[in-house]
Amino acid sequence: MPKGSTQKVPIQTDFDTLKARLSELAHFSSVIALLDWDKQVYMPKHGAELRAATFSYLAGLLHQRFVELDADGLLERLRHELNQNKLDADQTVVVREVVRTFDREKKLPQKFVQEMAETVARAHGFWEEAKKSGKFQIFAPHLEKIIALKKEEARLVGYKDSPYDALLDPYEPGMTAAQLEPLFADLREFLVELLKKIKKSKVRQNPKMFFGNFPLDRQRKLNELVAAKIGFNFSAGRLDESTHPFTITINPGDVRVTSRFNPRDVLYSISPTLHEAGHALYEQGLPSEHFGTPLADPVSLGIHESQSRLWENLVGLSLPFWKYFYPKLRKEFPKPFGKISLGDFYQNINVVKPSLIRIEADEVTYNLHIIIRFEIEKGLIEGAINPADLPKIWNQKYKEYLGVTVPNNGVGVLQDVHWSSGLFGYFPTYALGNLYSAQFYAAAKDATPNLEKAIEKGDFSKLLNWLRRNIHVHGRRFSAADLVREATGEKLKPEYYKKYLAEKYSKIYRLE
Ligand code: CO
Repeated sequence: MPKGSTQKVPIQTDFDTLKARLSELAHFSSVIALLDWDKQVYMPKHGAELRAATFSYLAGLLHQRFVELDADGLLERLRHELNQNKLDADQTVVVREVVRTFDREKKLPQKFVQEMAETVARAHGFWEEAKKSGKFQIFAPHLEKIIALKKEEARLVGYKDSPYDALLDPYEPGMTAAQLEPLFADLREFLVELLKKIKKSKVRQNPKMFFGNFPLDRQRKLNELVAAKIGFNFSAGRLDESTHPFTITINPGDVRVTSRFNPRDVLYSISPTLHEAGHALYEQGLPSEHFGTPLADPVSLGIHESQSRLWENLVGLSLPFWKYFYPKLRKEFPKPFGKISLGDFYQNINVVKPSLIRIEADEVTYNLHIIIRFEIEKGLIEGAINPADLPKIWNQKYKEYLGVTVPNNGVGVLQDVHWSSGLFGYFPTYALGNLYSAQFYAAAKDATPNLEKAIEKGDFSKLLNWLRRNIHVHGRRFSAADLVREATGEKLKPEYYKKYLAEKYSKIYRLE
């Protein structure tokens, strides 16, 4: 407004200003998300180089806008109001969460952020080369640099007990190594025991009996049916194809998932479709009226993963689910399923087999892959493990926990992209997702009479409604720990997941 102007403006509170600035950030994020989706689904190969430059330009702008949230001391004033309890319930959540993210970002100097980004970008090619050849030394100096930077990040951000806590926090706010350790130790002991029993079982399985010829257009239709049936809204989303399935939100009315397809194996697509649709149901269930604010953001990666794993495994690998879907699968693909009974089908989609590769792991062994990564990365960040010893330690743990011998580093310590991308503290959220999922599912069953009877009849709305009411609608109102307590009446306990696995696999493998 020009000096001396007498024009009246409506009174805008600091909170209104914050909301306007957040909404601008949300538009930026929408654009970046759409470009990212395009990159993974449609972009021709030669578009990659300049697309990367576009991303880096937009990321810079987004960061600049984020820093400007506090232009003219806006956040400081709001922080003061927050501390004086002058904000209403919704405003409290928004300011609390924005300030939390902002404080962390502010502690990382621009120079540090740049160095991290450059180091990670440079490391990627070396990691790929090392993975292909199995030669750890090719990647080792880059990994050492990344670990040094992550330690520096922890120091800059600050922590109470372990530097690892500072790295967990952006993915699973409030979670600490001290909380994870007993949780995972308990789980590890249980899983190793269960695995030993399963290995001794006389039950034999043959998932190869599912192979056949499955035209891709018919597979796509079937996957669309499955996603729609569990509640994915195709008027507010899409299902496409990509090498690595993912979910991305453009805005609340546009949540996109991808799956992967194999003409020889129709089941290759169904699990990822259910997994991503589970993520998408969460995104579609967030309160869209609060779009752009933390009230419409997911709580944490662990909670997000609980939604995908719940639909993928607890529902999608269950007998009630297939009582409904198996007749449809048989009708669509009488070869080979016409000759396979539902009982045999169920028995053979639930194969437990220790393997080298995390992303191919079954429900029982999956968390052991995660626990190994957690123990190693915590050791690296706290300084107890020397990066040069990684292959040796990795191979020892795979032998000890899973009973498998790692033939080369490419399918061992180098298999995942995470560390080369600087993602330390990320892996535990996968295992947490599994633990949360079992506890949520148990609570939903408790609160909903005949939940699984409804699923057998193809009615998934009872389960989805429970998730909507107890998890999705809250956005970031609660921390993950409080959300679990609110939704289930208890703190997070590994017992639910252990009980779920023990009951299910005792039947399948006829264990004592
Ligand atoms: Co996921």
